[in-house]
Amino acid sequence: MARILAVGTAALDLIFSLDQYPREDADLHALNLRVDRGGNAANTLVVLSQLGHSCTLAGVLADGPEAVPILDDLARYRIDLSACRRVPGRPPTSCVLLSSESGTRTIVHYRDLPEYIDDDLRHVDLTPFDWVHFEGRDATEIVRMLRRVGEARHGIPCSVEVEKPRPGIEAAFPNAAVLIFSRVYAHYCGFESPHSFLLRMREEAPEADLVLTWGEDGAYGLARRGEIIHSPAFPPIKVKETLGAGDTFNAGLIDAYVRGLGLAEALPLACRLAGKKCGQVGFAALGKQSGAD
Ligand code: FRU
Repeated sequence: MARILAVGTAALDLIFSLDQYPREDADLHALNLRVDRGGNAANTLVVLSQLGHSCTLAGVLADGPEAVPILDDLARYRIDLSACRRVPGRPPTSCVLLSSESGTRTIVHYRDLPEYIDDDLRHVDLTPFDWVHFEGRDATEIVRMLRRVGEARHGIPCSVEVEKPRPGIEAAFPNAAVLIFSRVYAHYCGFESPHSFLLRMREEAPEADLVLTWGEDGAYGLARRGEIIHSPAFPPIKVKETLGAGDTFNAGLIDAYVRGLGLAEALPLACRLAGKKCGQVGFAALGKQSGAD
């Protein structure tokens, strides 16, 4: 069992299931509506908790009535919220359109909460943690927080998820042990090939293990010292929901690292867990006893 801190968001997801993705200005009935707790860091922790780890979220939580499903779900998974900042207002909310035809999950996200910043993390005792994971959001603050974690107890490994382009996020790269990039980010940087992207990122982050998720083609990795490796995806027989598959992948990766495995072993384990998630609705039953290992 490891102690894991994740810095990032918890959100409210309004998840509409549709036969197919609608055309603009359509007026249609959904097959189903589910209201669930989401948010990248929260999703990752909920999976890590099921894998047996002790999990703490560091994020900004809204305290309005709409936040109740978020708080209830985090409590169900025993996520420690003592490092969070509470503010009045409504939680970050996503309208998610799931298309059963194509398996896509289109997300429209709204947020008017402030970001979690270094000044919040200053009040958190970092010494007990074995791993700190950051959702790549406000670059300036993440750089400061990475520095703070490094100073608190030299050598706590940090991972940073770089899912969307964020101005200045590259400044965080040299201080992370593991960088998890998305295909969207690689495309944004102008790369079509995983290999050329990873080799370019190696110049920015000489000391990090680099990971790049590539959807139905699995994931690529470049260890600190090593060559580019690839793991295929492990798609389920029937894709039920891809929402949060990346967050589940991150949990699988962190779980493998804190168990002392290297990137070559971690990558297929993370792909397997993400594939398992795609075969089910929501994030329950992703623990070891349910065959995730
Ligand atoms: C999935 C997710 C959702 C959330 C959205 C935020 O990765 O975390 O749960 O609403 O992304 O962008």
